[in-house]
Amino acid sequence: MGLIFSRKYFISSLLLFLNWNFLQVSAIIPQERGDQDCVFMPTVAKIYCYGGQYYSSVTDALSNTAVMDTLFISLDLTEQRTVADLQNAWERVDRDIGPNSFFGFAGLPNHNIIFMDGGAGGIDGGRTKVRYKSATFDIEPNNDWSSVTPERPGTPVNGHKATLGPDNSTIYVWGGLRNNETGVAMGEDTHPLSMYIFDITNTQSPWTTGPAAPESYQYHAAVLVDSSIYYTGGTYRTPSGLIDYVPMNIVRIYDTSNGQWSTHPITGSVIPTTRVRHTTTLKPSTGEVILFGGRGAGKTCNDKYLL
Ligand SMILES: *[C@@H]1O[C@H](CO)[C@@H](O)[C@H](O)[C@H]1NC(C)=O
Ligand SMILES: *[C@@H]1O[C@H](CO)[C@@H](O)[C@H](O)[C@H]1NC(C)=O
Repeated sequence: MGLIFSRKYFISSLLLFLNWNFLQVSAIIPQERGDQDCVFMPTVAKIYCYGGQYYSSVTDALSNTAVMDTLFISLDLTEQRTVADLQNAWERVDRDIGPNSFFGFAGLPNHNIIFMDGGAGGIDGGRTKVRYKSATFDIEPNNDWSSVTPERPGTPVNGHKATLGPDNSTIYVWGGLRNNETGVAMGEDTHPLSMYIFDITNTQSPWTTGPAAPESYQYHAAVLVDSSIYYTGGTYRTPSGLIDYVPMNIVRIYDTSNGQWSTHPITGSVIPTTRVRHTTTLKPSTGEVILFGGRGAGKTCNDKYLL
């Protein structure tokens, strides 16, 4: 009896110790927000979301900029919950690296690491800069962020994508914009065309610069299908230098196996309206890509398509 009691006591004090000293998690109801990003980490069965900015639910306008309280949150999916319960199930991960929106975000599940690249700090006209050019969060053993060194070439961008490649160790960072919120170095293009490639297994020099795309995209969606990354939607810089929507009847493809760029038409009975900040997700059982939401022509899209 005494033994059981003391073991219980030991376990609960250990949990308390972990809670206070390492994990620093607490349940919260996150305020509704946009322009954050999330990854699912299968080893811990948790969704991790970072950053974003608050919008007014009444006017749809930005309601706050650099002042953000709960930047890094997680949702444990191991417990059965109803949809209604989910909003009470978020936990704050008390390790953040400052306000950020429109960053590149990708999970490296085999390495138990979350990768973040660039972003736009506080969307406050450049007053709040993103803290690290790129950073990684390791779930075990440190449960903390660290800056990626050596740094990626080029000034940070925002509105780009970071996509995990088929080897589960390489991340492909492409698109986005450099402006006064990210900084632009002398002589640097505001719309980078190059593919920046990050290999987590190469600790000495993790970055290489891959081939340039014919055009640059911002606020596009990305999804890996076999060994290729499919980029759809967003905006692009036209040959005359104007910014326009990317037509939704084409997909720009980067083949990770040979570094080749190509463009393919999307045919079908419906073509989604042009949009930015939407998502594309592969349904592995069928190989279909599900395109969801985004914003176009000043309004939020609630529609869903199969590609
Ligand atoms: C950045 O550019 C925006 C739009 O041109 C402008 O409103 C803002 O004042 C600029 N911020 C800085 C710090 O120059
Ligand atoms: C990468 O991870 C996926 C999903 O777990 C798995 O199906 C695939 O075989 C992995 N590929 C490699 C090269 O490890």
